[in-house]
Amino acid sequence: MQYTWNDIEQHIAACTHCPLSRSRHKPVMGRGDYQADLMIIAEAPGGQEDQQGLPFVGRSGEILDSLLKDCGLAREEVYITNIVKCHPPGNRDPKEEEKEACFPYLKYETFLLKPKIIVCLGRVAAQRIISPDFKITRQHGTWTYRKNCALTATYHPSAVLRDPSKYEVVKEDFCGIVKEYAAGGGAVAKYGLYTKYR
Ligand code: URA
Repeated sequence: MQYTWNDIEQHIAACTHCPLSRSRHKPVMGRGDYQADLMIIAEAPGGQEDQQGLPFVGRSGEILDSLLKDCGLAREEVYITNIVKCHPPGNRDPKEEEKEACFPYLKYETFLLKPKIIVCLGRVAAQRIISPDFKITRQHGTWTYRKNCALTATYHPSAVLRDPSKYEVVKEDFCGIVKEYAAGGGAVAKYGLYTKYR
C-alpha cells in the first residue's frame, strides 16, 4: 500500500520519534503544489512556523516570497518543506539524531512529489541532501544531477536577513534555478548523470 499526502501529514502530526516532538507546538509538514516540479528544502521550522504549523510564514518567508516573485515564480507553484518538521528550541541547528529521525518523512514527500529540481536553502539542507562536505559559500548556485533530479543550493533567507547584501546573490541563484525549471530539469537529460540517492 502506498501512503498518500494525507497519511504522511497524519504520521507527522502524531510523530514522537525524537525529543523535538516534546517541545514543539505544531509540527510543520511541507506545503505547496503536490504536482510541482520544483521542491525547496530548508532546515527546520522557526518560531512562527511552530505556532502556525506552516513553513516559511515568518520574516524568512517574506524574503523567500520576494525572491520567488523576482524570478517570476509564486510560492503556490512550488513545494516547500524542511529537513526536520519540528522547531528546534532557540533556533539551534537540528541534531544528527533529529535529522535522521525525520528523514523518512522527507523521503516520502520526495517520493510522492517526484520533483525534477530540488533547491536546498542553507548549509544544513545542502549537507544533508547534496553532500556532507557541501560549502554553501563556495558552491551555492552549482548543480548536481541524481536520480533524474537536478539539485542545487543557495543561502538560507535568514542569511539575507542578517546580511541584506546577499539578496542579489541569492536572486542570481534563483534566476539560474528558474532557467533550469523552464528547461523542466532539462540539463539532467543533457548531462545524463545518475548518482545513487543516499
Ligand atoms: N526557516 C526554515 O528553515 N524553515 C522554515 O520553515 C522557516 C524558517
